[in-house]
Amino acid sequence: MGAGPIDGWDRAVDVLVAEASHGRFWAASGAAVESAVLGGLVGAVRWLTTPLFPEDYLSLVNPLWCGRELRGRIEAIHAETADAATLVIRPGRGWIPHKPGQWVRIGVDIEGARHWRTYSLSGPPGRPDGCITITVKAVPDGLVSRHLVRQAAPGTIVELAGPDGSFVLPEPPPRRLLFLTAGSGITPVRAMLHGLLTPAAARGGAKPRVADVVLLHSAPTSADVIFGAELRALTARFPNLRLYERHTRTEGRLRPGDLPDLCPDWAERTAWVCGPAGMLQEAEEHWAGSLDRLHVEHFRPVLPRAGGEGGRVRFTKSGRETDAEGGTPLLIAGEDAGVLMPSGCRMGICHSCVGRLTSGQVRDLRTGQIHGEAGDLVQTCVSAAVGPVEIEL
Ligand SMILES: Cc1cc2nc3c(=O)[nH]c(=O)nc-3n(C[C@H](O)[C@H](O)[C@H](O)COP(=O)(O)OP(=O)(O)OC[C@H]3O[C@@H](n4cnc5c(N)ncnc54)[C@H](O)[C@@H]3O)c2cc1C
Ligand code: FES
Repeated sequence: MGAGPIDGWDRAVDVLVAEASHGRFWAASGAAVESAVLGGLVGAVRWLTTPLFPEDYLSLVNPLWCGRELRGRIEAIHAETADAATLVIRPGRGWIPHKPGQWVRIGVDIEGARHWRTYSLSGPPGRPDGCITITVKAVPDGLVSRHLVRQAAPGTIVELAGPDGSFVLPEPPPRRLLFLTAGSGITPVRAMLHGLLTPAAARGGAKPRVADVVLLHSAPTSADVIFGAELRALTARFPNLRLYERHTRTEGRLRPGDLPDLCPDWAERTAWVCGPAGMLQEAEEHWAGSLDRLHVEHFRPVLPRAGGEGGRVRFTKSGRETDAEGGTPLLIAGEDAGVLMPSGCRMGICHSCVGRLTSGQVRDLRTGQIHGEAGDLVQTCVSAAVGPVEIEL
């Protein structure tokens, strides 16, 4: 005989008591307590609510309590420059604290379709309000960046994927660092700077964790420097931070050849570089003999123009087809054909865009290599059709 409602309630209470007796409620604090209590409730109530899950009811009360997917709520949006804004996001249950320099994937609904993009977390972990921040520069013609900067509003729920990325500082950090950034490339470095500098100040002037930081940052004008006022204030406050701003509209681009003048001991420092592809390529050439001292973060894929014939691509699940050129990623071909393509970083690092090949072969646009057998998973953001292709998407 199945359990009646009274039995059911008793069992739910039993589970809650068991959770509490294991110290799960009381060992935690703040957001952790909320999470533990919700976890206990969910465990206790899950069987009562079958076939619907308790997460389904909880997420009706508060979308951030959804247990099936990690969500966040945009709490505030602050303009940084004419075309960049910082979004303060409260992550829901399941968020894992990030390391300064890491990025997050964010799913944003625009006109009924969810679009995934990747943004560096622009602050260090551990904000007192439990929120995280991303700072987005609106790209001309950019779908998601323009939406986030110009249209998104506080209260909007977005989907998140946990933090990731290896553009981070080692522990302990080197004594002397060089940051070379341009445009929105400042965002991961801003998180690192705060991680390095501000905890010392918060401890009442304790010895800084880093002896000497040089930041060389480029933007078209002074007004275009994202976090400009804050960076200048940090420089005034911390003698171990030196900032050089290059305003490219009047002074031209900063080139690696400028480094000896701006930072004479650049070769003895470990460098973190983030900016446009051209700048990253020049940095890699400049540090060619000492790449162990160079860390770069790309915001866009570097896809050499791989030739190739392209081909007819059939997306088997959605039943759509299109002719794709040999240099066009299957991701773009699918999106242009109206297929709801999963994606994230759009540059081959997060693996959230994979689809299973049913037939045909693809070219890896990063290396030019042709590969693929039926059943293989391919990253659609960096793969193009070589002849006719069928993919389970
Ligand atoms: C690891 C990582 C971290 C990132 N961090 C940040 C960040 O902190 N802040 C931020 O603003 N962006 C960041 N980006 C870039 C971001 O993910 C998007 O690529 C960018 O916002 C453009 O998306 P979109 O939808 O507006 O453009 P799309 O609609 O995808 O593209 C529209 C047009 O813009 C071009 N385009 C695409 N991306 C860029 C770009 N990055 N710069 C210039 N042109 C582009 C495309 O080629 C296309 O022509 C990061 C990317 C990665 C991979
Ligand atoms: S979207 Fe990240 S690997 Fe393709």
